[in-house]
Amino acid sequence: MRPARAPDPDPDPTADQATKDAMSSPTTDSPAHSASTASTLITNIAALVTNDPSLGDGSPLGLIRDAALVIDGPRVAWTGDRSKAPATDNRVDAGGRAVLPGFVDSHSHLVFAGDRTEEFNARMSGRAYTAGGIRTTVAATRAATDEELEANLVRYLREALRQGTTTFETKSGYGLTVEDEARALRIAARHTDEVTYLGAHIVSPDHAEDPAAYVALVTGEMLDACAPYARWIDVFCEKGAFDGDQARAVLTAGRARGLHPRIHANQLSYGPGVQLAVELDAASADHCTHLTDADVDALAHSRTVATLLPGAEFSTRAAWPDARRLLDAGVTVALSTDCNPGSSFTSSVPFCVALAVRDMGMTPDEAVWSATAGGARALRRDDVGRLSPGAYADLVLLDAPSHVHLAYRPGVPLVTGVWRRGVREV
Ligand code: NIG
Ligand code: FE
Repeated sequence: MRPARAPDPDPDPTADQATKDAMSSPTTDSPAHSASTASTLITNIAALVTNDPSLGDGSPLGLIRDAALVIDGPRVAWTGDRSKAPATDNRVDAGGRAVLPGFVDSHSHLVFAGDRTEEFNARMSGRAYTAGGIRTTVAATRAATDEELEANLVRYLREALRQGTTTFETKSGYGLTVEDEARALRIAARHTDEVTYLGAHIVSPDHAEDPAAYVALVTGEMLDACAPYARWIDVFCEKGAFDGDQARAVLTAGRARGLHPRIHANQLSYGPGVQLAVELDAASADHCTHLTDADVDALAHSRTVATLLPGAEFSTRAAWPDARRLLDAGVTVALSTDCNPGSSFTSSVPFCVALAVRDMGMTPDEAVWSATAGGARALRRDDVGRLSPGAYADLVLLDAPSHVHLAYRPGVPLVTGVWRRGVREV
């Protein structure tokens, strides 16, 4: 069992997840893995996104053209003009392609069993999404063995890695009993440090007649069992799930146990979630689809990130969140997949980038920043989501000359190389 975390988790550049993250495990279709004790130069990079505005063109992307990057062990040691690169042990020719930080997917629900093909089919025939299908996944998840749940998780992590995701957060929320929530988190914690306790996903079907008793369980015995495995606590604050008072009770109980809040807020309707996120200094308010001017203003004057999840609007055929409105107000925006079998069954951050550019008013630069540095902010990390000295060498090589191609060439598998902690995985 891992120790409980500090109340306000600060970025921890010394945390080494590599040994417990399936993303660092060899995949059957990846090239040979080499230990990264030596230094490696990646050169002939047409466009290098560093997300360090002190580098390159001085934009938020810190874009360096004709660039090179040096990996030393698990970290970036140097970035700059390729003609000035220092000597290294190994050399990789990027062939005039683009390199960017590995995607930071700060919102997923990957500990589950079963799928909901029929529900998706019905939605695409006109039925509305109500989140009631969560119960279907709860039943399938409870019936699954630990081995089945972990194999499913690893399958989707590998899928995400092949599409450039090098850091991910994932949640419980499909168990809704003390034992099933704790085992979901125990399994997740073997693969990432960014683990979120979401016992308050919906009121458990076992307590349908007594929601108050379920909130007491989530904030009591279930929290005790789950806190040792989690860094974050989340609640689905929505009509039909948990109201503002219940959500506050859940998040403050979690905070008292050393977990830090994040919230499913304002997804299906207007509500108190975003204001609560700001009030409690949540790292992130996720979805943010239905926002008042006051909600936008509150986010703009806080350090709470608005995490937008366009896969959910795509897969529920719902109105898009207005990224432009948030960005123009000065809100920090992250982009993530929300990968889950109900509302958003995609593990592809590039797909989300393309949607955000086409339909949510983001420029390609903004969307790429949000899917990398924005995700890192939503996890209060500064060791990932950037490629400047000291950061983890988590990076993506695109088969394209520019990161803009992620939106310009939607649906095309452009990710051709992925390094994680300095080791080539794809
Ligand atoms: O983020 N909104 C609540 N939870 C998920 C959906 C889960 C499901 O439908 O299974 C979400 O979209
Ligand atoms: Fe979600």
